[in-house]
Amino acid sequence: MEKKKSVLFAASEGMPFVKSGGLADVIGSLPQELTKRFDLRVVLPLYADVIERWIDKLEKVATFPVNQGQKQTVASVYRYVLNGITYYFIEHQGYFERENLYGYPDDGERFAFFDLAIVDMFEHLNYFPDIIHSNDWQTGMIPLLCKKRHGSDVRYQRIRHVYTIHNILFQGNFPPEMLESCLGLPMDLFNDGTLRQGRDINFMKAAILFSDKITTVSNNYAHEILTPEYGEGLEKILQLRSWDLWGIVNGIDINMWDPKKDKKIPKRYSAEDLKGKRECKRALQRSMGLRVSSDTMLVAMVSRLTSQKGVYLLLDHIYELMGLDIQFVVLGTGDEHAENGLRSLEYRFPHRAVYYRGYNEELSHRIYAGADAFMMPSVFEPCGISQLISMRYGTLPIVRETGGLKDTVDPYNAYTGEGTGFSFKNATGEDILHVTRLAAEVYYNNKDAWNRLIQNAMAKDVSWEGSANLYFRLYDSIL
Ligand code: ADP
Ligand code: GLC
Repeated sequence: MEKKKSVLFAASEGMPFVKSGGLADVIGSLPQELTKRFDLRVVLPLYADVIERWIDKLEKVATFPVNQGQKQTVASVYRYVLNGITYYFIEHQGYFERENLYGYPDDGERFAFFDLAIVDMFEHLNYFPDIIHSNDWQTGMIPLLCKKRHGSDVRYQRIRHVYTIHNILFQGNFPPEMLESCLGLPMDLFNDGTLRQGRDINFMKAAILFSDKITTVSNNYAHEILTPEYGEGLEKILQLRSWDLWGIVNGIDINMWDPKKDKKIPKRYSAEDLKGKRECKRALQRSMGLRVSSDTMLVAMVSRLTSQKGVYLLLDHIYELMGLDIQFVVLGTGDEHAENGLRSLEYRFPHRAVYYRGYNEELSHRIYAGADAFMMPSVFEPCGISQLISMRYGTLPIVRETGGLKDTVDPYNAYTGEGTGFSFKNATGEDILHVTRLAAEVYYNNKDAWNRLIQNAMAKDVSWEGSANLYFRLYDSIL
């Protein structure tokens, strides 16, 4: 049998090791689907949290010096094999053993080091992938580094590059001096405009220019980012490469997110028998301090609390929304202003609105299972994972028609009864209110229609299967 070709996923987070958002869901599930045809490997930073939970299982496989330009440091690589996938972890105590994943003044230097260490690691492991699949700005320098840092080495020149944009808002903009001081690259790359974006160098631009193919996480977002409204200044450079830009919608790990098997929820259930879902709702109400009432519509949100997620639009009309006779539960952290808004909501509506501040994987499962509807009024949304999970759990998403939300949620059609959720067009508080009112009307006055929507949502294919085939086609097209 012919040896499988190898694909290395490079990312700054990935399940089951470390997660702050949907990127980790993708890195934890898509590679699994691709093992059918490829030798799949994943490389991540060795964060403090990973050390705490996994270090006993990891094996150190290499230690080598990394020339960062103006200084030289040492990187170690650890390896772990899980479900047929080889995971590599790049160790640098100073850069990665911190409380949070991102948000430090030296993030540019940290991930420049990550990219350098990945690229240099191949020689030391004597492993050269056929394709490197990089993700978001944190791994954006990899294609360029393969070409410039190891330009005369055919083993590096053979490597093909795929780059996925999960969120174009975060591009990795840093002062141009970083090219020399942290990446060991010539200033020409800034001076001649190649990596220049405004006054900065831009990691994402580097990846867009130097990858063989670029993808993003839904078809609709692939079109949106070519426009000034969504392109965040990179639309022109993307237009130049639009021939190589593919939109491939995300799926989820349907084994991990499965109400029939989920051990994190109090009662398991299926589309055929929703008794368990009603119990999950009561248990959630009880544990969150909401009034226990099977008949009250329970709307939930599990999210980063930033303007991307539409949380300010929601807060604009939140009192009218609470006037709809609903309960509202929110799990998330983010901007202080949004957190404060939700705290005061909780104060105003005891036993009807609850805000749980924090990141809590287990509670998120209980919310997806126990709620009736899931609120996701994003201003923009490259794909969105939460609405996929909620449909799988029969919790109807209320979404704005943007990015992947538009591609994945079929809006309720009152005439045919079709749909898997509710959607609205404009990014305004009025539109959120209007569509939530419609959802509440169906919930309270047309139980048959609501139940049919639950059936449709739970029957919807949110697996990776279809999209994995598209990734196969993409890889084949460059190999
Ligand atoms: P994004 O990646 O933009 O944050 P997605 O919808 O793609 O949005 O993915 C968010 C993922 O993170 C989902 O799996 C969601 O359940 C999870 N998540 C977000 N906030 C929290 C939280 N506070 N606690 C637990 N899980 C969370
Ligand atoms: C980003 C996007 C989100 C997407 C996720 C995974 O975090 O904001 O829409 O689902 O990446 O691709």
